[in-house]
Amino acid sequence: MTELLFRGATVYTPDGPGEFDVTVSDGVITSVGPRGSGRGKAVDVSGNWLLPGGIDVHVHSRDPGFPDKEDFGTLTAAAAAGGVTTVVDMPNTVPAVDSAGALESKAALARSRSRVDFGLWALIRSSSTAEQLVELASAGAVGFKAYLGYSFSVNRKQVLHALDASDPDLEAPPDYGTLTRLAPAIAELGLPLVIHAEDPGILHAFRRPFETYEDVLEARPAEAESVAISATASVARQHDIHLHIAHVSSALGLQAAEEAIAAGTRLTLETCPQYLWRTEADFARLGTAMKMNPPVRRASDQQALRDALRREVISVVATDHAPHTDDEKAQDLEHAPPGTPGVQTLYLSCLELARHMGDPWLAARWVSEGPAALAGLSESKGRIAPGYDADLVVVDPKQSTTFSPKAMRSRQKHGALEGLKVSFAITSVYLRGVPIYANGRLSTRSTGRMVRPAGVPIA
Ligand code: NCD
Ligand code: ZN
Repeated sequence: MTELLFRGATVYTPDGPGEFDVTVSDGVITSVGPRGSGRGKAVDVSGNWLLPGGIDVHVHSRDPGFPDKEDFGTLTAAAAAGGVTTVVDMPNTVPAVDSAGALESKAALARSRSRVDFGLWALIRSSSTAEQLVELASAGAVGFKAYLGYSFSVNRKQVLHALDASDPDLEAPPDYGTLTRLAPAIAELGLPLVIHAEDPGILHAFRRPFETYEDVLEARPAEAESVAISATASVARQHDIHLHIAHVSSALGLQAAEEAIAAGTRLTLETCPQYLWRTEADFARLGTAMKMNPPVRRASDQQALRDALRREVISVVATDHAPHTDDEKAQDLEHAPPGTPGVQTLYLSCLELARHMGDPWLAARWVSEGPAALAGLSESKGRIAPGYDADLVVVDPKQSTTFSPKAMRSRQKHGALEGLKVSFAITSVYLRGVPIYANGRLSTRSTGRMVRPAGVPIA
């Protein structure tokens, strides 16, 4: 039995920050008490902050499927270096996670290479059945993701962003009909439904070639987001489903979500650091690193998103970590694929934003406590409290970090937050009491386990 004593840090607990000793036994926090009260092998973290490990509920590992872009090894190296001790992976890997069998093989693969704990989202296709969802839930899915407007290649078993429905290999995207049909099964399972909220009808009406960033904004108007949110919220409310909106990017989308919440929808909201830190004005400098779906919009949208975080209407900040190769991203605006890496810079960018808002500790709520609740992990992760996993991040508040390509552990080096300077640095990171990162070095061991939401029976 290994007993550890973290001493000297300012510790963020569910009741706020304080000067505490934290003891850990066999990977679990056993006490959070006054200085001098704990026993165990001392880990001196004096002058630092001790925070709960980050949980990034929106990452794309690309594994299996796209090893040139990323895999669970590189993804979780970046996560560990950034203080993210749990990632929840999206199902648009290849083969897509649309069945219990696909989920189980992906879990086996992730287990073999993951440096942090991981959970898996399951895919809703327009052809998905209630039975398949039940099987996915018993295989351990954290919840279900529907990509409105994204078709499915049946031969390649791949989610594709193709609005052209003429190809016979392409299965139609899941739509409001699909969600209404599957809603009773989702309600019965009690797992969250996540949507990529851009209404395909609106996107279709505004299609255009991308020459300038203004074309991108005109092609993906905020109405696409607000309409998708209102429509899915209406279905979710009727069936009392927990609806989670991935990557909210616009003031109009937020407004639709707030109206739905006021009407009684069980709805949670996620936004991403890129929408909180960047605006259209940054495109001239960042180029296609900033191309993603939905797009980074205007200063007024950024302001509305920051304000919603402050008002606690948004409870989750996740990254939509969606790497491609730097070569793919070097293409022009029309051809470069959408997405940016982000998992490594999640925690620090949130600490910095929370500091700007006057309370840096808020970051732990956005990246750990809120995400734990979404993923059904509120009883094991997301807090520094007795009984919780000892997923701990040691942060030095006197040292700054500038996000630079050479520090990136992901395969894609250029991300949307490149160049951002934050007044914190991550010193070391512990996963269930085991050091996985310290002073710029990763431990060589892969120790990640699969997490499953509490309360779902195991098959
Ligand atoms: C994502 C990807 O590349 O997988 N890209 C993106 O721009 N967000 C797809 C997605 O999450 O919608
Ligand atoms: Zn995504």
